[in-house]
Amino acid sequence: MVPLKRLFSSTLGRKYLMGASGMALVLFLVVHLLGNLTLYAHSGDAINTYAAKLESLGVGLVVLEVGLALTILLHIITAFQVTFSSKVARPIQYSNAKSKGGPTKNTIGSRNMIVTGVVLLVFLVIHICQFRFGPEMEDGYTATVNGVMVHDLYRVVVEAFVQVKWVAFYVSCMVFLGFHLRHGYWSAFQSLGLINHRWSKPIYALGLAIAVLLAFGFLFIPIYIYATQGGGGNS
Ligand code: HEM
Repeated sequence: MVPLKRLFSSTLGRKYLMGASGMALVLFLVVHLLGNLTLYAHSGDAINTYAAKLESLGVGLVVLEVGLALTILLHIITAFQVTFSSKVARPIQYSNAKSKGGPTKNTIGSRNMIVTGVVLLVFLVIHICQFRFGPEMEDGYTATVNGVMVHDLYRVVVEAFVQVKWVAFYVSCMVFLGFHLRHGYWSAFQSLGLINHRWSKPIYALGLAIAVLLAFGFLFIPIYIYATQGGGGNS
C-alpha cells in the first residue's frame, strides 16, 4: 500500500503515472484511428457495422469506456501536478536552453505541453458530446446493414464534416494533437526511465513518426468527407 501511496504523492511517481497513462492513450488513438479509417469507405456500412460490433460488447464496452475515462483523468491530474510542482521548484524556466547534442528536446511542443493539453481537453469534451452522445437511433439516425437496423453513426459524422467550421475545428485541433504527441511520446519514455544514450535518437524519431501519422491520419478524415460529400452545406 505504501509504494502505491508514494506513486501518487512523489514527483517521480506522478511522472511515471503521467507517462504510463500517456502511452495507454497513444494506444487508444492508434485503435481509434484504425476504426475511423472505415470512414474512407464509399458507404456508411463499414463504420456503422464497426460501431454496432462495439455496442454488442455490452458491459465489456462500458468497462473499456470507464477505463479510458479514468486513464484520461489520471493523465490530466498528474500532468497538472507535475507542471505545477516543476514551476514551483524552478520559477525561472529554461527559456534559452540549448541542446547538448542529440535531438533537440526544447521544442515548441515541449514548452507548451500544458497549452496543447488544455486545447485537447476542450476538443475531447466537444468531440464526445458531438459523436459519442450525439443523435441516436430514437432521433431517426438509423441505417440497415445486412438486413439489421443499426445506429447511423456515419450520418452523424458526415453531417458535421460537410460544415467548414467543423472541418476547420478538427484540423486545427489535430495540429495541436501532433505537437502534444511529438513531445509527449519522448517525455513518457523519459519518465518511465526507458531512455539511454544509444536509444535516444531512434526513440525520438519514432515519437515524431507516430505524432505525424496520428495527426495527419485524423486530420485528413474531415477534409476527405468535406471534399467527397459535397461540403459547403449549412456552414
Ligand atoms: C477526425 C478525427 C476523429 C473522428 C472522425 C472521430 C470519430 C469518433 C466517433 C464517430 C466516435 C463515436 C464512437 C461511437 O459512438 O461508437 C468517437 C468517440 C471518441 N473519440 Fe473520436 N474521432 C476523431 C478524433 C479523436 C481524437 C483525436 C481523440 C482524442 C484526442 C478522440 C477521442 C475519442 C473518444 C475518447 C471517444 C469516446 C469513445 C467511447 O466512449 O467509446 N477522437 N470518435
